[in-house]
Amino acid sequence: MPPARIDLPGCSLIEDASLAERNTLRVAARCAWFAELHDASVLPALLARPALHELPLLVLGAGSNVLFTADWPGLVVHPRDERIEWLGESDGYAHVRAGAGANWDHFVRWTLAHELMGLENLVQIPGTVGAAPIQNIGAYGAEVATCIEHVEAWDRHARCWTRMDAVDCRFGYRDSCFKQAPDRWIIRAVHFVLPRVAPLQIEYAGIREELAAMRVDAPRAVHVAEAVARLRARKLPDPTQIGNAGSFFKNPEMDPAQAASLQARLPELPAWPADHGRVKLSAAWLIERAGCKGLRQGDAGISARHALVLVNHGHASGAELWALAQQVREAVHALTGIWLEPEPRILP
Ligand code: EPU
Repeated sequence: MPPARIDLPGCSLIEDASLAERNTLRVAARCAWFAELHDASVLPALLARPALHELPLLVLGAGSNVLFTADWPGLVVHPRDERIEWLGESDGYAHVRAGAGANWDHFVRWTLAHELMGLENLVQIPGTVGAAPIQNIGAYGAEVATCIEHVEAWDRHARCWTRMDAVDCRFGYRDSCFKQAPDRWIIRAVHFVLPRVAPLQIEYAGIREELAAMRVDAPRAVHVAEAVARLRARKLPDPTQIGNAGSFFKNPEMDPAQAASLQARLPELPAWPADHGRVKLSAAWLIERAGCKGLRQGDAGISARHALVLVNHGHASGAELWALAQQVREAVHALTGIWLEPEPRILP
């Protein structure tokens, strides 16, 4: 019997749905109910439905930052509002609202086409606008937090729509209040404030060289985006070609004394200044040094291109991928005493 499908105003509900095409690690998980949410305003009524209101809830965007280690026993809500709205411009800044379901890269390219700055280094990151604030996506020296004015979200505790100003979002390195309390808020839209003119960020390793290879002497935001896109395409495995969720581990942060003692033993270990006087170390380098780059067990693997990326060579289950990730953590721990933290959300 085909799975039950119920069409409600603003939302389609599917029972016992496959998530295999809905996570970029391509894990063949299923969920009890899947809701395609076209109109976020129906969310409170949806969550109150008798069949659904006691089930565990997961909001899933493009599935590019999750690992399903088992089936999801509850409801998955998939925001589909992809609208991008120009709200106005003042004092050299544009105000733009984007629906949670908008594709991130499409949104970045929209801002570039409108000659807005701020997001050029964040081009080509897989995922949706609604997911971007959750882990404060970042790449090539930029983080989305600097361009977020506020986030519109449903507060499941207070049972109301709320406006979360950037300061309330408590953004950190791949972190926010949304990540800390994953069951509390459901994001429906993000408001961005984007400058017409801002300094380009081209200090991150590789950008200048790429611009030179492109023969660009006076770069603009579009050129930086193109340089970053070329670097990413070269360095990171493409999720349309091989299942992956980008960086699988966060770069570990520690106090300078700890970092110095590790660097005394491993002098080539790359390190950068982090927030609050701490030091950030390269997890990719540590994984490579621990001998795990290109490691493969069945179809679960560590990319041979970039050691931070867990890959699915074919039909690896979530449990197999997670087991390999644990093996990598143990190898790095044996080498350094550091337990790497996963970057994606591990489910259920
Ligand atoms: N490196 C290795 N081995 C490798 C890959 C890298 O030794 O296999 C070394 C590099 O030589 C370099 C250092 O590690 O010295 C850093 O490498 P890279 O510039 O690739 O950055 P990263 O710290 O590994 C972070 C983000 C990426 C982002 C890049 C570029 C995290 C967890 N990851 O990776 O974000 O694209 O910087 O800005 O912070 C993601 O979050 O999914 C993601 C891909």
